[in-house]
Amino acid sequence: MKPDFWPAGPDAPRRGAAPLELKGALEPRGATEDDLDEMVRLERLCHEEPWTPDNFLGELGREVTLARGLWLAGDLVGLYVSWVVAPECHLLNLMVHPRLWGLGLGRRLMGDLERESAARGAVRFLLEVRLGNVRAQNLYASLGYEVVGFRSNYYDDGSPAVLMTLETGGRGPAPAGADEARPPAAAEES
Ligand SMILES: CC(C)(COP(=O)(O)OP(=O)(O)OC[C@H]1O[C@@H](n2cnc3c(N)ncnc32)[C@H](O)[C@@H]1OP(=O)(O)O)[C@@H](O)C(=O)NCCC(=O)NCCS
Repeated sequence: MKPDFWPAGPDAPRRGAAPLELKGALEPRGATEDDLDEMVRLERLCHEEPWTPDNFLGELGREVTLARGLWLAGDLVGLYVSWVVAPECHLLNLMVHPRLWGLGLGRRLMGDLERESAARGAVRFLLEVRLGNVRAQNLYASLGYEVVGFRSNYYDDGSPAVLMTLETGGRGPAPAGADEARPPAAAEES
């Protein structure tokens, strides 16, 4: 049976809820204005300072924006938004449905970002991440990103950001499938 990612009432999705099994094929594709409602719903679940619908529309309207998502059984379960101005790619937003954390979807989205950006001429990747966001920092570090600086008062609540970069030097992007999400057996979260 298809998992219900968006139950209503007291079962409404929240961070820290038990992880779901990853059943079915993930479909990566470009995200468009038609996906706005799904993007906003996922965003509100994933981020402390969520983007507004206008934030998404503003970004989607830019020629330099690369926005792609992962759909599972028709539901948007992961998304990234970035700017690609060759030779640089700046990651603006990355998120995975909290009940699917730890299954490799974040890694898969980052692989997709590298491939799609490299195809547009990017060889340098740049991102800011909240100082306390160890999960995301671990993900980026495991992909070769290095801390190159800090930005104080970066977030609206005054929190600082860590600045991380990856120089691929034009190495061939990992082939599609190399970053496939892990099977359900590896779904346990600490
Ligand atoms: C950050 C985020 C995208 C990661 O997605 P994910 O699908 O859970 O990530 P993955 O399963 O691909 O895990 C990738 C790596 O993250 C790290 N990671 C995963 N779970 C972790 C945990 N519980 N604690 C610390 N690091 C963890 C590991 O390095 C892991 O690699 P490994 O499993 O090979 O060791 C997701 O947690 C999320 O949406 N967070 C909220 C939004 C956010 O913080 N976005 C980033 C803003 S910069």
